Parts: sequence; structure tokens; C-alpha cells
Amino acid sequence: MTLVTAIPDHLQVERIIPASTPANYEPPFPAYSAQFAKDVSSLVMAVIGAQFPGKTGKEEAAISKVNSFLTFSGEAGEEALGPAFSEWAAVTDPKGYYNITALAYWKSEEAYQRWTTKSGFSSWWESLDTQEQENGWFLEVFFPTMDRFETVFSSGEIPEGAAEMRDGVVGPIKEHVYWGSMRDRLAIAQTDTLKGEEFLKAPAEQAQNGNLSRRIRVPGKQNLAIIRSGQDWADTAPEERKLYIKTMHPVLEAGMNFLRDHGDEVGCYSCRFMDIVDPITRNADKDRTFGLAYFDELASLEKWSREHPTHLAIFGGFLKYAAQLNNVITLRLFHEVLVVKPEQQLFEYVGCHPETGMLVAK
Ligand code: HEM
Repeated sequence: MTLVTAIPDHLQVERIIPASTPANYEPPFPAYSAQFAKDVSSLVMAVIGAQFPGKTGKEEAAISKVNSFLTFSGEAGEEALGPAFSEWAAVTDPKGYYNITALAYWKSEEAYQRWTTKSGFSSWWESLDTQEQENGWFLEVFFPTMDRFETVFSSGEIPEGAAEMRDGVVGPIKEHVYWGSMRDRLAIAQTDTLKGEEFLKAPAEQAQNGNLSRRIRVPGKQNLAIIRSGQDWADTAPEERKLYIKTMHPVLEAGMNFLRDHGDEVGCYSCRFMDIVDPITRNADKDRTFGLAYFDELASLEKWSREHPTHLAIFGGFLKYAAQLNNVITLRLFHEVLVVKPEQQLFEYVGCHPETGMLVAK
């Protein structure tokens, strides 16, 4: 098998920081990265969320509202302005709130900014009045340059997330299945240790002040690490599906619950274990989930994945799962990781409860 490196040629520089790839390394199974054209210098991932005190059916109006902006196409003959890709996902949080979010991706910050202005999203967002809104709203947007973004896919065929905008596929890649491979796929980590800021959780009383009637912007943090790690078992045959639901799903859920409820022990500010929802029925029946987590720095995310019993249970469970299926696996896994500068982050919460997303950060 000819292996290629995940970092595209045009982003390769002389390494100051050595990679951790073991000598003569051959990963035990193939993996792929998304490839973007040279002229794609940054991308945008936006999480546009609506928060309700339970699932009541009222979320339909919120979805329609956001969709009216996302599908905005501009004047005839004008280039389409909406996201290059978007989908909906949902999670009920520990306070019992139902959070439904659009995940939307653009190929550049300029394209995103043009959309926010021309579609009317920006003026609608600015005009949201917590006294008038029946639900909370949140906006979490990331603007990584391509050297601060990496992906890994178990399948080279089916894209997810930002890779829906890909120009091609790189692989099979060399940098995977050993600890440290995520960092080795990030171009910026050739020369930058990506140190973050000290993990600071807001004291409870401060968080309590962020009550349901406020609009709060949370400042960005140096080298915040974002992971969206997805699972798709839609195409599995009955035997594999049963095994996934029985053995993998529970350990994954336990890992995500740990990050959500005790993330402060490992540098994780926020973790949502989300179901992709069907755009028509609004049901979470797509057999696709993902964990979306925000860590104070890449090293904390690495440490949790390498050392914490919850990810080790996921990792170990997967090796057993693969063995039981004689390594013939239809389950698809992917992740995308962004390590962003403060000015490459935007967090705003309007009328959300104080444990929402980065509201917990000081
Ligand atoms: C790495 C399994 C979910 C975080 C890995 C690796 C495996 C694995 C086999 C090494 C793979 C490689 O580099 O190719 C799984 C399975 C999952 C799952 C089977 C779900 C069914 C998650 C989730 C997160 C996560 C939800 C975080 C939200 C990580 C990180 C690494 C990793 C950060 C990279 C570590 C490094 O390269 O240093 N996982 N994982 N995983 N996983 Fe998971």
C-alpha cells in the first residue's frame, strides 16, 4: 500500500517540531483526509442553534426561520450565497433543554460575511430581543485557515462536514491510528506547539447572572481546539448494526456524557453528543451521530483520547468490534479538528441557559 502524507504539498514546510509517526510505520487499516484546492485558504463552520425548554413542536418555526436565510440565493445570475453545505442536528442537554442546530459550512470567510449581510441573517440576529423570543438562540462560528484544520475518514468515498466541499481525497494516509497522529495531520503543528490558554471555568454565580434574558458574547481563546467526531451506521447489515448499538453506542455515549458533565477535569468546555435529524421528518432516525466538543487546547484533547478510561473504552471497544467482524466494517467514522486563534471564533448566546456552550468559560 502506498501511503501519502495528510498535509497537502502546498502547506508543507520544514518541520521545527518532529512528527510522532513511528519509523517504517504501516497503519493496520486505511484512512483518508479531505483535499482542498490550493486557492482555498480558509473555511467557515457555523453552528446556529435554537434552544427550547423541551421538545414541544415549537422548534419548527425556528428551523424555518434559519432555513429561510440558509437557502437565500441572491439575485438572479449572482453566485449562490448560502452555505456550500448544511445539515441539522439535535441534542437534549442535561437541563432538559432541546437544542436544534444547523451546521453550515462556507469555503471562505468572505463568502460567509457576504451571506450574513445579503441574506438578512445579520440584521435579524442583531435584532433578536430576548423579551420577545420564546426560545434561546446561539451562534458559534469558526474561521480556521487551512493550516489549522484537519480531517480523518475511515471511508474515502462518503464525505461529511467540511469535506462536503472537498476537491478530492488524500490517502491512504500515513498519519493515523498512533497517538499524536491528529497533531501530525495539522499543517500548523509543523512549527507551532499550539499552546492554549489556562482552562478557566466561570464561577457558578457568574454563570447564574447569564440568565435567560441576556445576549452574551464570549471572547475567543488562543488555540481553542474544536472536534466534530462522527459515526454513521446507516449502511450496516443487521449483524453489524446490532453489534454497534449493543457495544459501541453505549461506550461512546458514556464518553460524551463524561466530557459534557465533567469536562472541566480534562480541559473540555463543552461537549454535545448530537443526532443528525432528517430535514423533512425532523426525526433523529438517520443512524448518524457526532460529538462536538470544545477543548482549551489540542494537548487536552489528545490527553483525554490517549489516557482517559472513557475514550480508551471507545478505542478498545472498536478493536474488539473490528475483530468480531473480521475487520469487514461498514460503520463509517470521521472527524474534523480545528485549532483556532481568538479572532477566528465567534460565540454569541441570546436568552440561553447558563450552561450552554462556551457560556461556562470565564
Ligand atoms: C483517535 C476510535 C469517537 C477523539 C481514535 C483512534 C481510534 C478511535 C481507533 C485512533 C485512530 C486514528 O488516528 O486513525 C473511536 C471510535 C469512536 C470514537 C470507534 C466512535 C465510535 C471519538 C469521539 C472523540 C474522539 C466522539 C471526541 C469527541 C479522538 C481523538 C483521537 C482519536 C482526539 C486522536 C488522537 C491522536 O491522534 O492523538 N479514536 N473514536 N473519538 N479519537 Fe476517537
